[in-house]
Amino acid sequence: MAEPSVCVKKLQGKVAIVTGGASGIGEATARLFADHGAIVVIADIQDELGRSVAQSIGSHHCSYVHCDVSDEEQVKTLVAFTVQTYGNLDIMFSNAGTISSSDQTVLDLDVSQFDRLFAVNTRGMAICVKQAARSMVERRVKGSIVCTASVAASRGANMRTDYIMSKHAVLGLVRCASHQLGGYGIRVNSVSPSAVPTGLTCKSPEEMMGVRKRYEPLTSLKGTVLSVRHVADAVLFLVSDESAFITGHELAVDGGLISLPPPVSLEAN
Ligand SMILES: NC(=O)c1ccc[n+]([C@@H]2O[C@H](COP(=O)([O-])OP(=O)(O)OC[C@H]3O[C@@H](n4cnc5c(N)ncnc54)[C@H](O)[C@@H]3O)[C@@H](O)[C@H]2O)c1
Repeated sequence: MAEPSVCVKKLQGKVAIVTGGASGIGEATARLFADHGAIVVIADIQDELGRSVAQSIGSHHCSYVHCDVSDEEQVKTLVAFTVQTYGNLDIMFSNAGTISSSDQTVLDLDVSQFDRLFAVNTRGMAICVKQAARSMVERRVKGSIVCTASVAASRGANMRTDYIMSKHAVLGLVRCASHQLGGYGIRVNSVSPSAVPTGLTCKSPEEMMGVRKRYEPLTSLKGTVLSVRHVADAVLFLVSDESAFITGHELAVDGGLISLPPPVSLEAN
């Protein structure tokens, strides 16, 4: 990815954790943060991929740490590693997420899948916010936390009940955390993308085209196709000083999808 065209490094001297940074939105954001001068710690469970992304960003700017976000001890270790190695934690992009099978309707809900998904998307998100916030409070860092929610966080659909519920919970977490951490000068926001082709949504180039085709008619903005870079740009805004007075906000990156009148037959992402 190219260096920023304007020579303003928005995150110079900042230390950031990006969970789910081995691929997709997390990877694009980790690269953009590094381009803007941040030291980035990528946390993921895909070790080979995560290491190679960290290596390609450069060992002076980026490390990889294996961390399953659903395990609080691993997240504690991740935060401790970051602070010990780089001196502080200024930014947490809590982004790791997973999806279950598409047939999770209320009538056929597989609760084992539900529990596995909630462990990552909801419990993991809460653990990452908690551990990042504790470190920031302890060190008096007026940091910034961004969680990846989704357009699925504010509407229902005829499928993926567990995923949609987990993303609604992310908004609840961000609203509570922004209230509770505001007194420490810590901002907490969320980013809500619509469908963007990544490993989560597509296993093949045909599926990528399929996602684009399904969503194109649903967005009011025409002539632009959502990419991971658009989401990364929104996250960069939310963690940088440009959004210094913004907290508790859900920033939709959806080409106007949410503003379409319901009901929209939405495939949750
Ligand atoms: N792709 C979309 O259309 C879309 C839309 C809205 C929201 N989202 C959200 O964006 C976030 C990133 O997803 P993506 O689309 O980039 O998909 P992705 O699969 O490319 O990235 C998700 C990353 O999370 C990691 N991960 C999964 N479980 C983990 C765990 N327990 N601990 C640590 N890391 C774990 C994966 O290994 C992967 O690298 C997710 O929270 C997802 O729900 C995606």
